[in-house]
Amino acid sequence: MTPYGAPQAPLPIALNVNENTHPVPQDVADDIMDSIALALRDVNRYPDREFTALREGFADYLGHGLTREQIWAANGSNEVLQHVLQAFAGPGRTAFGFAPTYSMYPLLTRATGASWLAGTRASDYSVDASDAAAQVADAAPDVVFLCAPNNPTGTPLGLDVIEAVYDATDGVVVVDEAYFEFAPRDERSALTLLPNRERLVVSRTMSKAFAFAGARVGYLAADPTLIDALRLVRLPYHLSALTQAAASAALRHAPTMLRMVDEIVAQRDRISATVEALGYTPHETWTNFVLFGGVADPATTWQALYDRGVLIRDVGIPNHLRVTAGTEEETTAFLDALASVGSTS
Ligand SMILES: Cc1ncc(COP(=O)(O)O)c(C=O)c1O
Repeated sequence: MTPYGAPQAPLPIALNVNENTHPVPQDVADDIMDSIALALRDVNRYPDREFTALREGFADYLGHGLTREQIWAANGSNEVLQHVLQAFAGPGRTAFGFAPTYSMYPLLTRATGASWLAGTRASDYSVDASDAAAQVADAAPDVVFLCAPNNPTGTPLGLDVIEAVYDATDGVVVVDEAYFEFAPRDERSALTLLPNRERLVVSRTMSKAFAFAGARVGYLAADPTLIDALRLVRLPYHLSALTQAAASAALRHAPTMLRMVDEIVAQRDRISATVEALGYTPHETWTNFVLFGGVADPATTWQALYDRGVLIRDVGIPNHLRVTAGTEEETTAFLDALASVGSTS
């Protein structure tokens, strides 16, 4: 096996791991600092094992009538997904996703001793409801991952696909909405499908739209009985008092934390339009990144950009590269560098 290892090179323009490249606004940072300082006074004691205040904060933020009994959180959505797999996968079991999809799903699955099963997508990376249901029925997995929208392709996923997949399996269905806040405003979340679906899980993260990747906070919503099962596998006190304080404070400022989303979406759309004008083929994206094809030799283009101080991602899809939308200046630097590299297939 190979560990997760996106390069962490100290380049001036880092657009390779789909972070939010806008820092936390100063007024919010000040309030977060105050909350951390308060929490520090009691840091000789273990933190609230049930992270009650934080779960209430997430329930309020998500809406849809959710209560804290339906919320779980951990150190990044990677750990949230790991908890789901530790509870519902394991030796002799299987987890399934439509490839290409988020690279951590197979790694997390195999680390529990379970096997990973890869389904297929159409050539534009979309997934259609009846085909998806047929593939899932055939594979009969214990856990299904539906990345909505999908990383590394950016592809949206219809709620009809989620409903069809749910009905085609007895397993746990995880809808990973890590990038949901970058989708068009009027789009419905899979959270609306939670009532009467006790095997459905919707995971989110503060790492992307919330500009909180370094704090490591992810969360999910599901039926309270499923949440109870996650308590069996979490480490005691897995969310530190400082993390809980920081995340709760950030949630109190959700509108401010999220105010760069529109700007990021504008830069993302600018990337799609410009790479297309340069002769590449961007894929439809509802995320904060763009996957574009038509790259004659991804490794050479990646290196040429690197040499110009711009770090993007070669995700291993032939003739494709992926770039995160940056600030306006970062995006301009990337687009200028790509134009100067200039070789499409
Ligand atoms: C689809 C998807 N899910 C989950 C994650 C994990 O994010 P985190 O652990 O920072 O919450 C990522 C990170 O890039 C992602 O792309």
